[in-house]
Amino acid sequence: PMVRELFGLSDLETALRKRFGLKQAVVVPGDSDVSEEAKRELGRAGSKVLRRVIGPGDVVAVMGGTTMARMAAQFSVPSPLRDNWFVPARGGLGESVDYQANTIASELAKRTGARYRMLHVPDHLSEDAYQTIMQEPNVREVVDMIRSARIVVHGIGDASAMARRRKLDANTVQEILRDGALAEAFGYYFDREGAVVHRMATAGLRLEDIEAAESVIGIAGGRSKGEAIAAVMRFGHDDVLVTDEAAAEEALKHA
Ligand code: BG6
Repeated sequence: PMVRELFGLSDLETALRKRFGLKQAVVVPGDSDVSEEAKRELGRAGSKVLRRVIGPGDVVAVMGGTTMARMAAQFSVPSPLRDNWFVPARGGLGESVDYQANTIASELAKRTGARYRMLHVPDHLSEDAYQTIMQEPNVREVVDMIRSARIVVHGIGDASAMARRRKLDANTVQEILRDGALAEAFGYYFDREGAVVHRMATAGLRLEDIEAAESVIGIAGGRSKGEAIAAVMRFGHDDVLVTDEAAAEEALKHA
């Protein structure tokens, strides 16, 4: 049974890679929705991928979330990363501090001897506030660094779950869902085809920066996220997907 299970996972990896045109797919056993062990494994697999991809001088932009936190908590390197930077991909997202991108970036830096920068800017900004805050030299400097990231690591969420978690106002939530949003990643909302249905002025990574990044790594698992994962993979800018068995099966159903 063990061998069959292993073959099962690598079949899923191959299917995901082909279906979504990825460079690599990694599938861990189980379902993170119901198994803490699966979620931890997901984080561990994500940390291995990042360790392999990171090169001298790279700036790594990271998103927040509980999955990213599991990844960061298990990240280690054989020798210190003296010339790497970890930066948050976005400002605060109204999330608990443990799961904010700033926290993940600093944790990764502390665990590896790398350097980090923080972005102390709320994520939801009016156009006016955005224009003003971007004129602050130290904000500008961090933002420029974020936007130059060669590597981006992010989680993926279900649209309505994330809209609620981010405390978007009821009208916006309704509007987003009416437009067909079912996935959320990098603060953007995607419909089933992977088209962006909602975006806002952000001091963090913009879609064009994600498109420009050389290595985009998505880490997300749990059966409930399968459809959302498929939508973000259709958006088509991820190079590597790290997921679990249940989410992989579900994503392939919606592919
Ligand atoms: C974050 C992303 O990394 O993870 C969000 O910025 C995503 O876009 C979220 O929705 C998912 O969080 P979690 O806690 O389910 O891993």
